[in-house]
Amino acid sequence: MALAIRTHEQSLSPEQESLREEALRGFAASPKTMSPKFFYDHRGSHLFELICQQPEYYPTRTEETILRLAARDIAELAGRNASLVELGSGASRKIRLLLEALRPARYLGIDISREFLHSSTRRLAADYRWLDVHALCADFSQPLKLPAEALGQRPLAFFPGSSIGNFDPDEARAFLRNLHQALPAGSGLLIGVDLVKDRQVLERAYNDAAGVTALFNLNLLERIRNELHSDIDPRRFQHRAFYNEAESRIEMHLVSRQAQRVRIEDRVFDFAAGETLHTENSYKYTPSGFRDLAGACGFASVAMWRDPAQLFNVHFLRR
Ligand code: AVI
Repeated sequence: MALAIRTHEQSLSPEQESLREEALRGFAASPKTMSPKFFYDHRGSHLFELICQQPEYYPTRTEETILRLAARDIAELAGRNASLVELGSGASRKIRLLLEALRPARYLGIDISREFLHSSTRRLAADYRWLDVHALCADFSQPLKLPAEALGQRPLAFFPGSSIGNFDPDEARAFLRNLHQALPAGSGLLIGVDLVKDRQVLERAYNDAAGVTALFNLNLLERIRNELHSDIDPRRFQHRAFYNEAESRIEMHLVSRQAQRVRIEDRVFDFAAGETLHTENSYKYTPSGFRDLAGACGFASVAMWRDPAQLFNVHFLRR
């Protein structure tokens, strides 16, 4: 039997053209930088799933435990007949936990990766026959237009995994303001936020012993080599991740192992030995710091949960 998934497309989805533009812009910048959203091709999405299973990477399993313990409270706060909107579809275990606790009439998955979005929504539609499943392929760092038929009256938006941490504070505010505009009054926002903590715990999480985070970071260069006309050799770069305490963020970089010249199409870029390409920031918040940020964007704090070791935070906010 065919599965009923209604798909909606939003203007842009960053495919080849944008990777090209981002690489040409980012390699010419000083310091060199690229947006972390380009990590997530098929291999990158798979590597990220593996990161989430590493013993050092505490956010995924900690957030899952918090959600499991808070599921009934969340369902009560969301109210009956809510629709569930997942920003960054694919956090399958977490969304299943919420679907079972909330039994919403509708589900809308939003993701930048069309392929990943379609396979995850197809799986949900097959497993939850009672659910009206919608899929929207969009870059949610840009203004969003959510399809009204997928929203219902009082949607609950779910943004797990501390993905908000991959935006800098200005981008996080822009994202929350966009979301505020896209959601009807009375909507809920359930959002996972990684907490400020001991440097060692943070740095271990981004330097797992199995080297999966390193592969994830280097995959960006694999993409450039495979998808653009480039002679870049990922073996000439090394993964580095550290906590920048003054900015409350983990920074990920790719460090050039030697002085080298890299070609992308007809352009050349020089790297000094030790020069880095800055690939990701992952901001960490205190509970009150995040509440203030969300409050300034029109979201009121309704409830908040934390694990006993104070590693991770889940906020229930109301628009
Ligand atoms: C998706 N995002 C919240 C992850 C993080 O922790 O910032 C991405 C990641 N980068 C390295 N490990 C995980």
